[in-house]
Amino acid sequence: MTSALANLLGDDQVVPLADGTSRRYLNFDAGASTAALAEVAEAVGDFLPRYSSVHRGAGWKSQSATASYEEARAAALVFAGERGPEDIAIFCRNTTDAINHLAYRLRLDPSDVVLTTVAEHHANLLPWSRMARTTHVDVGRDGTFGVDDVVKGLDSSPRPKVLAITGASNVTGWLPPIDEIVDAAHQRGVAVALDAAQLAPHRPIPSAPDYVAWSGHKMYAPFGVGVLAGRRSTFTEGDPFLHGGGAVSMVALDEVAWAEPPEREEAGSPNVVGAVALHAAIDTLAKIGWEAIIAHEEELASKLRRGLAGIPGVALLGPSLDTPTLAVAAFNVEGQHHALVAARLSTEFGIGVRHGCFCAHPYLARLLGLDESQWSRFKAEVQSGDRSRIPGAVRASCGISTTGTDVEGLLAAVRTIAEAGPGPVEYVQDRCTGDFVPADPALRMTTVATDGSIRPCNA
Ligand SMILES: Cc1ncc(COP(=O)(O)O)c(C=O)c1O
Repeated sequence: MTSALANLLGDDQVVPLADGTSRRYLNFDAGASTAALAEVAEAVGDFLPRYSSVHRGAGWKSQSATASYEEARAAALVFAGERGPEDIAIFCRNTTDAINHLAYRLRLDPSDVVLTTVAEHHANLLPWSRMARTTHVDVGRDGTFGVDDVVKGLDSSPRPKVLAITGASNVTGWLPPIDEIVDAAHQRGVAVALDAAQLAPHRPIPSAPDYVAWSGHKMYAPFGVGVLAGRRSTFTEGDPFLHGGGAVSMVALDEVAWAEPPEREEAGSPNVVGAVALHAAIDTLAKIGWEAIIAHEEELASKLRRGLAGIPGVALLGPSLDTPTLAVAAFNVEGQHHALVAARLSTEFGIGVRHGCFCAHPYLARLLGLDESQWSRFKAEVQSGDRSRIPGAVRASCGISTTGTDVEGLLAAVRTIAEAGPGPVEYVQDRCTGDFVPADPALRMTTVATDGSIRPCNA
């Protein structure tokens, strides 16, 4: 039986259930954010008494905090595919921030083409379409594409300047064949930006992509830090993404001389605690070892995906069961809204999952087989403030502390929901958010309005 590789803070959290009993919370939402590794919490606790401004103070604490910050940067650079001195690691807030930063710093012309894919999170679509013209490698109904499909996009005219691609899908856990794709791009002189938000906690980051972005909060270091790593030369010319203190060497009222990167890219006081936390997570993952992490997650992935696919009335989205994926599964239960299934898992079984479109609307549309007119209809409903029929799925995602027994608990709960139909609890839907909550206010965690009325979504 697959056991946990590490403990996370809160793994023993007990939560109340609708029937008046309680149970240990089963967290299947690692793909969104992870709790902290015990080693991360300890490193942060040890660091806090030394907390001080970095790169600014002459005092011992400032010197010590600066050393910790720069050690974290060096560790991040190694974590990002053993990168050498021709590359730098820039601390950002998260992956979204890092990709926006990169899209700005590549100094693209609006007529330049950035090739990306339909499998991307919005964070790897929108920053590019703001700065350049985007084209997309499409996916099949199974949510995958082949190297040939990418090559077609790379060979189209005008030739893309950048390929922006995910290392792993946040919806299906699918792992595109990144090494071959990067080779094909480089053979054609196209730079590659890898969105490693989902890859980083589960697989080593490859060294070949020119740029890579990821977040600490998805790899057991939830202290608000992200990293953009890549070619130093990209950041030695031109305006930094943010203007302000710390990014400059000299300032006059009508003139500025920018500092050298990475300082040039980190205006303002940086997130030192986040960097220290990330460093501790990197060290802890290294201690556990990729071999153990991959073996653990492959076993969970197989158990989770095969288990779900074997439940009558459950439709697993994405690639075939033989295709390697992260331990992530997106699914629907016949006849039950994805939001209702998620609410039931929480209220009746103490299981945390995510539901909806997972910030990957174009990908979900393909996985669900929705055509443009269906999508437009749902869009019109959402824009009118009604999300009650928004298409989507339930996502279960595992991490380093998930066990085989946890997966069995989830599968048993999904089987009960799928087989037994309506459960013991009555639910009402908030049409504004699309979420379901128990009709009995005593069973609710939140105070959302649930009278079924349509409210504007910013209410
Ligand atoms: C594949 C992928 N890219 C980017 C992001 C955005 O990450 P963040 O919210 O940390 O900026 C996510 C978050 O879920 C993701 O899964």
